[in-house]
Amino acid sequence: MILKGKKGIIFGALDTKSIAWKVAELAHKEGAEFILTNAPIALRMGTINELAAKTSSEVIPCDVSLDADMSNLIDKAIEKFGKLDFVLHSIGMSLNVRKKNPYTDLNYDFMHKTLDISSISFHRLMQNLYQKDAMNDWGSILGLTYIAAQRVFPDYNEMAEAKSLLESFARSFGYHFGKAKKVRVNTISQSPTMTTAGSGVGGFDAFYTYADKMSPLGNASAEACAEYCISMFSDYTRYVTMQNLFHDGGFSYTGISSDLMDAISNSEK
Ligand SMILES: NC(=O)c1ccc[n+]([C@@H]2O[C@H](COP(=O)([O-])OP(=O)(O)OC[C@H]3O[C@@H](n4cnc5c(N)ncnc54)[C@H](O)[C@@H]3O)[C@@H](O)[C@H]2O)c1
Repeated sequence: MILKGKKGIIFGALDTKSIAWKVAELAHKEGAEFILTNAPIALRMGTINELAAKTSSEVIPCDVSLDADMSNLIDKAIEKFGKLDFVLHSIGMSLNVRKKNPYTDLNYDFMHKTLDISSISFHRLMQNLYQKDAMNDWGSILGLTYIAAQRVFPDYNEMAEAKSLLESFARSFGYHFGKAKKVRVNTISQSPTMTTAGSGVGGFDAFYTYADKMSPLGNASAEACAEYCISMFSDYTRYVTMQNLFHDGGFSYTGISSDLMDAISNSEK
């Protein structure tokens, strides 16, 4: 029960495959209370009410690209819980990826929307929390990201820039939140994971298998990611802030693996 007595908000649980869904299940098991939120359309299409019942949580709609929705959500959270101890931003959406526009022929209206939903929303969230003084001392705010922010994965498209911006917001706001309110802000850079957002990326199966073969520990699952998130919400990680934390089975520091060497050698025979 390492989150006993802690209160929070979890963004982004769409269905049972969502990383946020696993985080919510585990947070509940570890004694936390939280609000679940997602965009109104996702609430209609997904199965969040099932999760809400299972975790005794309230669901409050919020399209994270709308200032009014975000402000309303944070007001309601304060009304319900007083101050918060943890917040998970588990949101990603690219209109250009959805429309299969190649990186060299992007629509900029779509790109604005992508950045607004996937990255600027993280700032919008933190600015609301900060200005409304909604976080307890030593609270923890987490965003989820992918290594395409540091290295080129061509099919990840404009989401690479979205994740770079997200990680930068974690560092910059982490400074201000730490200094003023002793709140930590981090991003977790997760292995490819079989979810709705993940499998929307072109060539995802190859992506997934490549990462799995490259990582000495194999790809980290959504459940393992949830465990890491819970540890980052707990009091055992109080001095970790402004970091991008790789949760990827060792992928980020591996140049080549014997599995891939063997696969390449075999294909050349
Ligand atoms: N799946 C992967 O391979 C992978 C790898 C690394 C990082 N991530 C990141 O993990 C996070 C969670 O994604 P997931 O893989 O669990 O997929 P998911 O599709 O289950 O979750 C994405 C969520 O974003 C929500 N969302 C989209 N637009 C929104 C809006 N306007 N307002 C509010 N919510 C909105 C969706 O409704 C959905 O719940 C994302 O940031 C994603 O980029 C995923």
